[in-house]
Parts: sequence; C-alpha cells; structure tokens
Amino acid sequence: MPISFTLNGLSQALDLDSETPLIHALRNELQLHGAKLGCGLEQCGACVVLIDGEPAFACTARLGDLEGRRLETIEGLADGHGRLHPLQRAFIELNAMQCGYCSAGIIMRLKALLDDEPHPDRASIIGALDGHLCRCGAHPRILKAVERAIAIRQVDVP
Ligand code: FES
Ligand code: FES
Repeated sequence: MPISFTLNGLSQALDLDSETPLIHALRNELQLHGAKLGCGLEQCGACVVLIDGEPAFACTARLGDLEGRRLETIEGLADGHGRLHPLQRAFIELNAMQCGYCSAGIIMRLKALLDDEPHPDRASIIGALDGHLCRCGAHPRILKAVERAIAIRQVDVP
C-alpha cells in the first residue's frame, strides 16, 4: 500500500518500504534536495523538516511515520506566487549562509519557532538553534537574519 501524506500542501503517495529513511525518500524519490543528510544521528540538524508543524529529523524519521500527516520542506516555504518566506528573504538580505548545507534545516526549525511564537527573544532563538551545527560559523549572521525576519513579518506576513 502506498504511504499517503500531504507534502507542501499537496497530496502525495509513495509506494516504498515504510522503513525507508525520510531523507532518502525526499532526496532520491521526490527530488527535493533542500534537506541535507549530515550526521544521520539527530546531531547536526541539516535534515530538519516539519511534520504536522513540528521540527523532525528526516535522517531518522521513516517514510511510514508520514501516513496521514502533513510534511513541510524548504521547497514549500515560498507562497503560491513564488514569493519567499520572510526567513528566506532575511537570510538572503543578510547573507546568513556560506556553503548553505545547514540552511534549510535551520530555516525550517526557525519557521516552526516563529509560527509558535511570533516575537521570540534572543535566548529563545538561540535555544531553538541549539541542535543545529554550522561548520561555516554563520551563526552570528543567522541570529541577525532571524531578527530581520521578525521585523519583515510585522509588516508583510506572506
Ligand atoms: S542528518 Fe539528521 S540531524 Fe544530522
Ligand atoms: S553555511 Fe555552511 S554549514 Fe552553515
């Protein structure tokens, strides 16, 4: 039986082994390459996506976990007219990435944070990013980008 779920707002069904790691289903079957495979051990955050609005590690989640659930990835973050999410706009504006390997996971984590708490303080932002590694050392710019995204959202919620 195919595994059925919602992917970035659209119905999706995949006829694969339910034990297939979600990161492999995304990257190899669906050609969605935003989420990255890093450690494979829930230690780096490069693979983070949202399942039912909550951050989840696509490296350890299994495709079968998705049955009937709502999956969001970085590819679905722009609005229906291709306009980027405030987090994406702020990351570009403030150059908050270098190689970009960590960026999709971090942005999805931050999306969940801002959806729950539109005006988090700096401690909450740092806490949310605690499990995300950035080998390029972009964290200072990432923090500034989050604060910029919060400001953008105040005047322009997509
Ligand atoms: S690849 Fe999933 S947390 Fe590192
Ligand atoms: S921008 Fe390179 S790992 Fe974060």
